Amino acid sequence: MRESAPRPAAIAPDLLAWYDRHARDLPWRVKPGGGAADPYRVWLSEIMLQQTTVAAVKAYFERFTTLWPDVFALAAADDAAVMAEWAGLGYYARARNLLACAREVAASGGVFPRDRAALLALPGIGPYTAAAIAAIAYDLPETVVDGNVERVVARLFSVETPLPAAKPELVRLAERLTPQNRAGDYAQAMMDLGATICTPRRPACAICPLSAQCSARAAGIAADLPRRAPKPAKPQRRGIAWVGSVGDALLLERRPAKGLLGGTLAFPSSEWDGTNRAPPAEADWQIAGEAHHVFTHFALTMEVRRAQLEAAPQGALLIPRASFNPRDLPGLMRKVWKIAQL
Ligand code: ADE
Repeated sequence: MRESAPRPAAIAPDLLAWYDRHARDLPWRVKPGGGAADPYRVWLSEIMLQQTTVAAVKAYFERFTTLWPDVFALAAADDAAVMAEWAGLGYYARARNLLACAREVAASGGVFPRDRAALLALPGIGPYTAAAIAAIAYDLPETVVDGNVERVVARLFSVETPLPAAKPELVRLAERLTPQNRAGDYAQAMMDLGATICTPRRPACAICPLSAQCSARAAGIAADLPRRAPKPAKPQRRGIAWVGSVGDALLLERRPAKGLLGGTLAFPSSEWDGTNRAPPAEADWQIAGEAHHVFTHFALTMEVRRAQLEAAPQGALLIPRASFNPRDLPGLMRKVWKIAQL
């Protein structure tokens, strides 16, 4: 830490004053100083926002809250309807946990717990989301640390240790900044500062409400922080997807609940390490092209094959083209469908 480190007690007031004027208007938010937000909406938005941008989440959030305005409505929803609405958002385990969590909360009276430990015991709620719900929905002085907050704190205190090793230090520093009052506004103010001013590449220090207290700015290294350990290259994998038609119906499947794209609607495919290369039925399969998709831990090239089948294989999930909507598919399978049609 450098000598020009900020005074922790001075950060929150300056940041909250800025937030009062510049808070982003987002569908899950109450206005600054507006008090308690609906815990259901806070929880739903925070689950959607894990690994996903604000811009991508907005429309999904509006649609979910229109279809299922409270936790009882969501708990009573069909699994397939929720998976279809989630399609395209990615990280499908979130959708399965979302339903499991809604059902647990609804079964115990419909109130989300305030307590961190009780929140952590619910499906899909980890330390980040528990802190976010406690702070934003209940205004408890929990410290919420996402990638934006890590960046802001690394710069304020000129933390030079690369991520991910720096995480525990950044959390400790972030905890020193969290105010006792308006913790929910403060958490979202940190996120907004990170998203709009203290941005990864070209931070707008000239208009930052914290620039006078920022030691990285004083040292001229704000844009270089946080440092990151080099990431190992992603392994490349290959697979085959089969787009088959029987008459005017398409051959699909529901993927097993566990594993990647678990529970989603999909075209039959090989394992993505290239094993199990047997097609769903014997037919004159033609190669239509390749779909490319990047997952968190590997990059996938999927060869797309298509054919007209004589008859449906046993236990097949056939969907008439007239009622088939590619938006019900996860991103990878939308790409497969696009290529099959070329
Ligand atoms: N990212 C995660 N949670 C958020 C929130 N409540 N507002 C804006 N961005 C976020």
